[in-house]
Amino acid sequence: VDNKVIAALDMADMNKVRQLVETLGDTIDFYKVGMELFYSVGAAAIEYLRSCNKKVFLDLKLHDIPNTVEQGIGALVELRPTLITVHASGGRAMLQAAVRAAAQRAEVLGIPRPKIIAITVLTSINDQEWTVLGGTSPISEQVVRLAQLAQDTGIDGVVASPQEAAAIRAACGREFLIITPGIRPQGAAVNDQSRTATPAAALAAGADYLVIGRPITQATFPAAAAADILQEVEDYLCSQQK
Ligand code: C5P
Repeated sequence: VDNKVIAALDMADMNKVRQLVETLGDTIDFYKVGMELFYSVGAAAIEYLRSCNKKVFLDLKLHDIPNTVEQGIGALVELRPTLITVHASGGRAMLQAAVRAAAQRAEVLGIPRPKIIAITVLTSINDQEWTVLGGTSPISEQVVRLAQLAQDTGIDGVVASPQEAAAIRAACGREFLIITPGIRPQGAAVNDQSRTATPAAALAAGADYLVIGRPITQATFPAAAAADILQEVEDYLCSQQK
């Protein structure tokens, strides 16, 4: 199904990573490496995934002054991830620096440029916390504002909850990538996620990629769980073509 599902490797141990990736086999070919795995294992995690011909969503959420982010992105491009995340709230110059670094380092290496994806407002921020942080306009408006700023600087897409996806799709158009976590297939445990959507609902809201962790990684039979999710994605996509 064209790599629409990104399985989140939220673990700190390469043995577990290898076991899961082997178990999932050809079912999943796109993996998220976040802070936990990257800070525990480092580049070796990404090198392993590449050796298995897997694509990597490197979700480190960079947020610093433009020069620092520019150098950081340049270093990460050497690891050849497909997607890298930064915080949109780092501002225009930082976002431009990230895009520039990705393009320039990829050109030097002669590889395709990784896409740079922005985080808008963390979905863990609720209305009360938002007010404490000094937010005045509604969070949903800030999410769209940051998505548009990111798009304006050449950023390729955003991470967003399924609830935010439709507004971002409307504001930023068809080409802007939307990656949604908080996905729960029918009947799966919600865990600590509060606003979840099924794979089909997230795609219907405009998601291009679904980041799915525990419904796959904690399943008794991860490959079967992943296959069921891919089937739901495929069913949805087929229903749209008719
Ligand atoms: O296990 P689960 O499917 O909830 O994992 C979702 C993944 O997406 C985790 O890696 C989590 O860090 C990430 N994520 C999220 N909610 C966000 C942003 C990222 O759950 N708003």
